[in-house]
Amino acid sequence: MFPELAFLLIHFMCTLVSSDQQFGFTFNGFGPKDISLDGAAIRAPNGLLKLTNSTSQQGQAFYSNQVRFRNKQSAKSGTNASSVSSFSTTFVFAIVPEVYRLSAHGILFVVTPTKSLSRAPPFEYFGVFNPTNKTNATDHVFAVELDTIQNNQFGDLNYDHVGIDINSINSTISEQAGYFDDANKFQNLSLFSGQIMQLWVEYSGLEKQINVTLAPVGIRKPKRPLLSLSYDLDPVINEEMYVGFSSTTGTIIFTSHYVLGWSFMVNGRAEELDLSKLPRLPRIGPKKKSSFLTIWLPLILAIMMLVTFSAVFYYVRRKRKFAEVLEDWELEYGPHRFKYKDLYVATKGFKDKELLGIGGFGRVYRGVLPISEIEVAVKRISHESRQGMREFIAEIVSMGRLRHRNIVQLLGYCRRRGELLLVYDYMPNGSLDRLLHNNPEISLNWMQRFRVIKGVAAGLKYLHQDWEQVVIHRDIKASNVLLDSEMNGRLGDFGLARLYDHGTDTQTTHIVGTIGYLAPEHARTGKATTSTDVYSFGAFLLEVVCGRRPLDVQEEILLVDKVGSLWNKREIIRAVDHNLGVDYVAEEVELVLKLGLLCSSIDPNLRPSMEQVVHYLHGYESLPELSYFDSISQSEIAYKSDRGFSNFTTSSHPSSAVESFLSSGR
Ligand SMILES: *[C@@H]1O[C@H](CO)[C@@H](O)[C@H](O)[C@H]1NC(C)=O
Ligand SMILES: *[C@@H]1O[C@H](CO)[C@@H](O)[C@H](O)[C@H]1NC(C)=O
Ligand SMILES: *[C@@H]1O[C@H](CO)[C@@H](O)[C@H](O)[C@H]1NC(C)=O
Ligand SMILES: *[C@@H]1O[C@H](CO)[C@@H](O)[C@H](O)[C@H]1NC(C)=O
Ligand SMILES: *[C@@H]1O[C@H](CO)[C@@H](O)[C@H](O)[C@H]1NC(C)=O
Ligand SMILES: *[C@@H]1O[C@H](CO)[C@@H](O)[C@H](O)[C@H]1NC(C)=O
Ligand SMILES: *[C@@H]1O[C@H](CO)[C@@H](O)[C@H](O)[C@H]1NC(C)=O
Repeated sequence: MFPELAFLLIHFMCTLVSSDQQFGFTFNGFGPKDISLDGAAIRAPNGLLKLTNSTSQQGQAFYSNQVRFRNKQSAKSGTNASSVSSFSTTFVFAIVPEVYRLSAHGILFVVTPTKSLSRAPPFEYFGVFNPTNKTNATDHVFAVELDTIQNNQFGDLNYDHVGIDINSINSTISEQAGYFDDANKFQNLSLFSGQIMQLWVEYSGLEKQINVTLAPVGIRKPKRPLLSLSYDLDPVINEEMYVGFSSTTGTIIFTSHYVLGWSFMVNGRAEELDLSKLPRLPRIGPKKKSSFLTIWLPLILAIMMLVTFSAVFYYVRRKRKFAEVLEDWELEYGPHRFKYKDLYVATKGFKDKELLGIGGFGRVYRGVLPISEIEVAVKRISHESRQGMREFIAEIVSMGRLRHRNIVQLLGYCRRRGELLLVYDYMPNGSLDRLLHNNPEISLNWMQRFRVIKGVAAGLKYLHQDWEQVVIHRDIKASNVLLDSEMNGRLGDFGLARLYDHGTDTQTTHIVGTIGYLAPEHARTGKATTSTDVYSFGAFLLEVVCGRRPLDVQEEILLVDKVGSLWNKREIIRAVDHNLGVDYVAEEVELVLKLGLLCSSIDPNLRPSMEQVVHYLHGYESLPELSYFDSISQSEIAYKSDRGFSNFTTSSHPSSAVESFLSSGR
């Protein structure tokens, strides 16, 4: 259909329905006579309306004449004064703060009985509302506020809201500035962003409904209004009223309030503004002098500063990232000290992909050292910096000088604040534990097991006797025995268990170790000795031969008791791991099981030394005759002492799933 025809039709229907008189105006930019100004408001030559300036905080602009809001002929016809007609208005505005993100106060579209608003103080009252009688129906003020100040006194929503004010600065209804896009999704707007926006206000005299819609300029009027209020404006709006804008700004925070164009219509839809004809906003900032001085020079300087800053920042960050702690005493261990940066590179930045295992002490990562390309395992141990830590670290580090084919070689270390990194030989075949339990894919045959046992025994003997000082392992178990490329058993994690009890007084010493491996007197006194290590080694022997964990958590039965009772029945060979089938040397199996029981003696004095153990295993000495194995007392003592200690560390919890970390590692 032709638009003209449609318009005529609508026009005709409108007049037919209400026989209302239309009145309206449209300003795409303001002409000299279009509006009357008050206060600081000025009209720029290009037609731009500026409501506030920096010295006078209040400005108003009104359509020069009164606008008739009620029909004349109905009044004439003797009936009650007719109700307020429908009206609609739209205007384009901009709120430009001088200081970014700080604004005051806002713009009010207002319908009032008078143009002279000097009766009210400025600022938060927008130059319109009287603070003393705010809610007085006789005020006859209808307004829509674009408020950029959150004034709790008036129950303001936030510092960026649109509200409908009826006779009061306290908005009847208000909403965060924004609009509903075509997908009906709410999009926030910041009124004082300096962005040019458009507001529509519509009142239906029939439905007694007010709609307010906001949108960034250039966007078609959103279908869904921001505010919709059912309200009868009959008592508020007189027959004739002034329409216009009032704006106030703060004394310190100065903001410019602009109106670029405005159209208004009673009994009809306000004409859309022609955006292309609207005046331009003034350029922000001083006039440009030379593009080099004003733009390029600062830009170049800024870039140079940015580059310098980021270089410094990068350097500092890098420095911090790779920062280490080095003390005098460490210098003598010089060759063992690794650069954190190298370890970082070796483990690809401690990537999860390189993670070998997580245990009670920390995480273990696989790494390849730069240049030498040696494969290593890096253990990250975080610790609180407490007293004794320094000595402990010195001790651990000094173990780097331990050398034996059956211990996992500590290659070096690195210290950072609250963190110790230990670098070990990488053990390609992982922990023994993994080949014994949970239906391993490959099970070790007897020859391999026996070799591992002999190896571990030799390693432990070295720690106990052959070095310049006695090293107590404290946590011997299958998961701490690692297999090198030739399937030799190697002890790992020696001495580390002390991490937990170091520096604390002996009364509150945490027991470290794993239930089932823990000697009764160790559990009782918290004191680790070479013979508590031997006890653990005994439990380890039984574990390897029987393929069972030292403590059956479900049955709450110690493996040593089980083997002991078989021994008492002269059936000890039945304890052997079924996975071995018949492929084992019975004498060797019996030897190891009996040795396991001997090492597990409750009386520490009955336990052999590691030197003796090595001799027994190699047949240099024959095992002393075992008598009846008192299993009941064994269990009892173990359990009693276990229960007697409440402050076990995690690694000593019966469900020894918390394995020492090298365990799952290598
Ligand atoms: C601000 O407006 C007042 C009142 O019209 C006027 O006296 C003053 O000169 C104006 N200041 C500026 C900076 O434009
Ligand atoms: C309209 O007129 C009737 C009768 O004249 C009167 O009773 C009623 O109060 C009037 N209503 C209003 C809103 O003035
Ligand atoms: C508002 O209240 C003040 C003082 O209470 C009074 O002088 C003034 O006339 C009132 N104004 C209006 C418009 O009611
Ligand atoms: C409203 O204003 C009128 C006159 O201006 C006054 O007589 C009346 O007391 C005011 N009402 C309230 C509630 O302040
Ligand atoms: C305006 O709102 C504030 C906060 O909700 C309230 O304390 C105050 O009494 C209200 N004033 C009027 C006139 O409604
Ligand atoms: C919109 O603004 C409100 C109030 O400032 C804020 O809570 C909300 O997260 C904003 N939403 C979006 C999508 O920016
Ligand atoms: C206000 O908006 C609602 C929802 O879009 C619409 O149904 C209603 O007709 C509108 N009223 C006016 C007066 O524009």
